[in-house]
Amino acid sequence: MRFLVTGGAGFIGSNFVAKLMSENLGQVLVLDKLTYAGHLATLRRWEGHAGFRFVQGDIGDRLTVRRLLADFAPDVVVNFAAESHVDRSIDSAGEFIATNVAGSYALIDETLTYWQSLDGARSKAFRFQHVSTDEVYGSLGATGEFTETTPYAPNSPYAASKAAADHFVRAYHATHGLPITITNCSNNYGPYQFPEKLIPLALLNALEGKPVPVYGDGLNIRDWLYVGDHCKAILQVIDQGRTGETYNVGGNTERTNLDLLQALFAALKDERELIAQAGTFDTGIDYAGLITFVADRPGHDRRYAIDSGKLRAETGWEPVEDLVSGLRKTVRWYLSNLEWCREVTEDNYNRQRLGFGERASG
Ligand code: NAD
Ligand code: DAU
Repeated sequence: MRFLVTGGAGFIGSNFVAKLMSENLGQVLVLDKLTYAGHLATLRRWEGHAGFRFVQGDIGDRLTVRRLLADFAPDVVVNFAAESHVDRSIDSAGEFIATNVAGSYALIDETLTYWQSLDGARSKAFRFQHVSTDEVYGSLGATGEFTETTPYAPNSPYAASKAAADHFVRAYHATHGLPITITNCSNNYGPYQFPEKLIPLALLNALEGKPVPVYGDGLNIRDWLYVGDHCKAILQVIDQGRTGETYNVGGNTERTNLDLLQALFAALKDERELIAQAGTFDTGIDYAGLITFVADRPGHDRRYAIDSGKLRAETGWEPVEDLVSGLRKTVRWYLSNLEWCREVTEDNYNRQRLGFGERASG
């Protein structure tokens, strides 16, 4: 199998590449623009490895995409490339429209032309797998779960841009027959997540005894899934999912942000020895005492919960990690990869508050 993986230098894409490479599942070509969120350091272990290639480029650059499709001749295109941070989309939505909407459109349109050029067997086996989010469904009240038929109601510019891409991907199946699948997944955590997101941000701030910012009252609920389990779901959808279909992916692990942070702090406390070895950190910090309530995220969705019944029934997918085991792995990974955190943030991010600038408050 030949996999073209867009956005493969980011968080989930790089974990997906690691799964393909370490399990010898096929040839991999990563196309990534290397924005602030994408780094070659994340893919370094595969450099020079037979079966792995990296190209820096934009999914919206049709000529590059066309050339790569023709030269590499993939059996599967998996689209992870996106602007992914809600707070940044509040500050400015332009890049979200350029990549998530126009970029995804250019990628599927070029993929359609490529797919139409394939012969019978390869054309039949081809798959375009689009990676999307539960945020397209908007916000839930106290009860209920998102299913694949929940109407789209995106609230952030990020979610709106992902919703638009989902509609284009679906429309290319309905109109042109392009063999697509879409996965809509809940909040991921694990190795290689850029430290702007809640878990790595809180983890690093706690280690350093810095305030851990909690938006609003901290009672917003997310459904957390270990990234390896998301990658497993994507592979199972590629293998067994029906073309033209959408599959929700979630961990059945709903937590308020405050409860999630308590679980993270418990995982940190369990790793005192590793923390002592990792650097000059104080191992006696009262992590809970670092929680600092800050102004809420504008348009902050209150609750997400995902019904993954369709995915489970059709592919047999089950997550392997629970929150305790997943957070343990995550904490250990960050403690062993503090240099990676430094390297990917040094030029561009210092854990400052995002998404609450003049535009948002005005
Ligand atoms: P990320 O921000 O860590 O990585 C995104 C990657 O895409 C980066 O490597 C970046 O350089 C690359 N990229 C950005 N613009 C590009 C362009 N125009 N052309 C090529 N590459 C480009 O994001 P992530 O958290 O790994 O998310 C990956 C995908 O999964 C996204 O589509 C996101 O919407 C979706 N998703 C994320 C989560 C989550 O919790 N992180 C949950 C559900 C779905
Ligand atoms: O649900 C899937 C989505 O999960 C993905 O589509 C997005 O790409 C991904 O970034 C994530 O979005 P969230 O907005 O849910 O993730 P984030 O880590 O930014 O925030 C998680 C929750 O924590 C949310 O309720 C906001 C809150 N938060 C976040 C940060 C960064 C805080 O309270 N403090 C913070 O400093």
